Amino acid sequence: MNRPKRMLLENIAWAHETAHADAQFFPRLAQGQSPKVLWIGCADSRVPAETVTNANPGDLFVHRNIANLFSASDDNTMSVLEYAVRVLKVDHVIVCGHYGCGGVRASLLPQSSDLPHVNRRIAPLCALGQRHRHELDAFSELDARANRLAELNVLEQVRLLRQHAIVCERDEPPLVHGWIFGLHDGLIKVLASGYADEGETQHAARAQVASLQAA
Ligand code: CO
Repeated sequence: MNRPKRMLLENIAWAHETAHADAQFFPRLAQGQSPKVLWIGCADSRVPAETVTNANPGDLFVHRNIANLFSASDDNTMSVLEYAVRVLKVDHVIVCGHYGCGGVRASLLPQSSDLPHVNRRIAPLCALGQRHRHELDAFSELDARANRLAELNVLEQVRLLRQHAIVCERDEPPLVHGWIFGLHDGLIKVLASGYADEGETQHAARAQVASLQAA
């Protein structure tokens, strides 16, 4: 059986099972959406937003791209943000990166001539890596450097989102959180919580990273 056909059969099975478990599920879904969270994640197939947070259809408004980048000059990203914040009125914007990110790793390597779009997309990541060159150079392994840059990238996207007018000029601005997903254990680590005690959270997260690296 070809893959699309298998997927369609799985869809039929899922629709039946879901309706069987909750007869009102699809009628409710059809009435409209009111997600409380905008998820900005990596396009990587291993980090599906709903699956890793045990969320359901209707829970998350999702935007994914290579290396979970927020770019104010990109109408795709901006239209999602604008709609989520101004129309859906989400309470939270979560930037979720992940360790082992190919996009982040690529930004530390020479450009690939057959990937002009990717090169353009990850240019801000290359610049971020340059800005943190000294810290990153402390890691001898490329993968460790990429993992630290993946964390710095999440924090950078959080910073950019928090200062953007669409976010900060709303009467009650949504909280912007920075998370990172571990492929090795499936767990999410909080890098920036969005809450008032963020300094503590960030400090705890950094201490955790440091102790993991020392181990
Ligand atoms: Co990725």
